[in-house]
Amino acid sequence: MISEEEISQVRNATDIVALVGMRTALQQRRNEFWACCPFHDEKTPSFKVNPATQFYYCFGCGESGDVFTFTMKTENVDFPEAVRILAQIANIELSEDATTVQRGRRERLLALLTAATAFYHQQLMRVKSPKNDLARDYLKSRSMGEDTAKQWQIGYAPGNFQLIRHLRELGFEAQEMVDADVARVNSKNPNQLIDRFYDRIMFPISDLQGRPIAFGARVFLADDQSPAKYMNSAETMLFKKRDNLYAIDKAKSSIVSQGFAIVVEGYTDTIALHKAGFANTVATLGTALTSEHLKILARFTERVILLFDGDAAGQRAADRAIELIGSALAPTASNNRRVDIYVAMLPSNQDPAEYVEAEGATSLQTVLDEAIPLIRYGLDRTLGRFALDQPEQRSRAEALAMQILLPLKNTALASDYLSYLANRFGFNEIAETELRQRFDRLKPNYSQAASVNVDKTMPAEVPNVAPKPVNSPTSQNQDSSRQAAADKITSLERDLLYLFIEQVQLRRQLSSALKGNKWRSEGHQQIAEVLLELKDKDETMPVNECLSQLTARLPEATASLSASRLRDYSGLEPIRIADHLVYSIREAKLQEAIDKINEERALLESNDPNNQELFVQLVPLQKELADLRKNFKSGTR
Ligand code: UTP
Ligand code: MN
Repeated sequence: MISEEEISQVRNATDIVALVGMRTALQQRRNEFWACCPFHDEKTPSFKVNPATQFYYCFGCGESGDVFTFTMKTENVDFPEAVRILAQIANIELSEDATTVQRGRRERLLALLTAATAFYHQQLMRVKSPKNDLARDYLKSRSMGEDTAKQWQIGYAPGNFQLIRHLRELGFEAQEMVDADVARVNSKNPNQLIDRFYDRIMFPISDLQGRPIAFGARVFLADDQSPAKYMNSAETMLFKKRDNLYAIDKAKSSIVSQGFAIVVEGYTDTIALHKAGFANTVATLGTALTSEHLKILARFTERVILLFDGDAAGQRAADRAIELIGSALAPTASNNRRVDIYVAMLPSNQDPAEYVEAEGATSLQTVLDEAIPLIRYGLDRTLGRFALDQPEQRSRAEALAMQILLPLKNTALASDYLSYLANRFGFNEIAETELRQRFDRLKPNYSQAASVNVDKTMPAEVPNVAPKPVNSPTSQNQDSSRQAAADKITSLERDLLYLFIEQVQLRRQLSSALKGNKWRSEGHQQIAEVLLELKDKDETMPVNECLSQLTARLPEATASLSASRLRDYSGLEPIRIADHLVYSIREAKLQEAIDKINEERALLESNDPNNQELFVQLVPLQKELADLRKNFKSGTR
């Protein structure tokens, strides 16, 4: 650990205002600064930075903290790394301690892997032996001759303790070899190390600076019995699959100059594409593309083309990529760019390497030129599964398509795609308007909403605090989303009433919830009163009896309750459902109150005293909401 003293030294030398100011425009109001929150999506600043306390707090999403948490979140690093980054900014040298030891260990492992890479490469290039020859022949047969092998530092792993011996001579320790995952402890003899890779062709995987951090190891011998074609290094201190891309070090400058990145799935595909002139190609490492990968790519470009094999596996991989839509729109930590993802599918059963070899670079360029936006791809794939001329099927297709568009809610992009959907459905203007309304009523899943950069057209430097005319489209959106929230509360309340009737043994426990609730509708209020009255008369009144007494007193009640969606909770214990409902109702009401205040604020100038006044009202609501969520999470049975 870094010493407390050093931490406070760094804390004193860095300024939260300057730090936030590097990311997002700040407005000064009296002794405080305000910004549009970098952690969630908003148009009106609710992110407060206090120079006196050196803390930030967002009234919108509840994010709060100091220079360290801000750095951890925006740079996606852990605490010691955040301290290190800030120390560098502040020009403070951290003394000899665990951090340096850690850094020392990293450097050692990097050195070890560099030595291992050179060793494997040397084996491939220089050593004469039957197996080494076979490795060279195999690569040559796949158009990876000496030059390619040299450029990519491809190697051969001979096994037989050769690497271990070599590394030991260079002064590396057993534990370091294990930590770098080039050696393993022999399970039959704990005192002996064995090579992790043998009889394999080695593709070194490098970090952004080109330092080797892991290997992809391919079988090549005809009689190899290994179940998997490739074996990759395990995750180590240096290597995380979801954070690294093959060839990113070689591709980054070309990605910048070409203005886009190509992402493929294979090592050999990457190499073949670089050779064919597409040096802006990188590959994932045996995983689907992750949001971390996108963050890295976003540092170099705004346009990413995913190039998939033209077979079923390629199709599946493309389908998996649809899940990235939300994170692609998120402004990344290191800059405020979002990434536009495109999908290109090879026309035949070939992989990119085979395709470019057979058809040439011009054909591949055409495939890339025809790439379609991932969102469009996702919509088409979804719609393609339904007969859109049949209302039931169309409505199911619509629901799924809207889920894809949900992360884009309130963007110009979403609006365009809604037109596209309406068009595909053959909707007229009225039907399209209704479609838009149905979409507006959908509640964005919170984490997605929090990560979406709402309006591409909005200048990032100028927080939008101008008063909005009351009848602007935005206020209509607000009306409909408020309507949606109200509907949600009504239906949760209905579920709660229904649960009370149905779960005889929970009635006693639920009665305080029924008493304490301020019901949305007169009808629910009346039902609750009658139910409580019935319970006081006969606590264990059977469900049927309870229902018939209720209908006798309030004829409309059954109709209203029959819409209860309790079956949505099937699988949950009734007591959990009860907890969940009570919690959700409270949460929705608090959120509604917070939204309402924020909407009022949006109509006021930032320096309007009423605006400040409204902020003050927000604080206890936010706090209650945060506590509620925290308690619910920790207290779930
Ligand atoms: P491919 O099967 O397309 O491999 O798998 P490739 O890179 O084109 O290799 P060649 O052409 O057969 O020599 C794509 C990627 O999936 C991972 C590797 O990262 C590979 O590059 N993979 C594949 C594994 O991790 N393990 C496997 O067994 C297979
Ligand atoms: Mn291949």
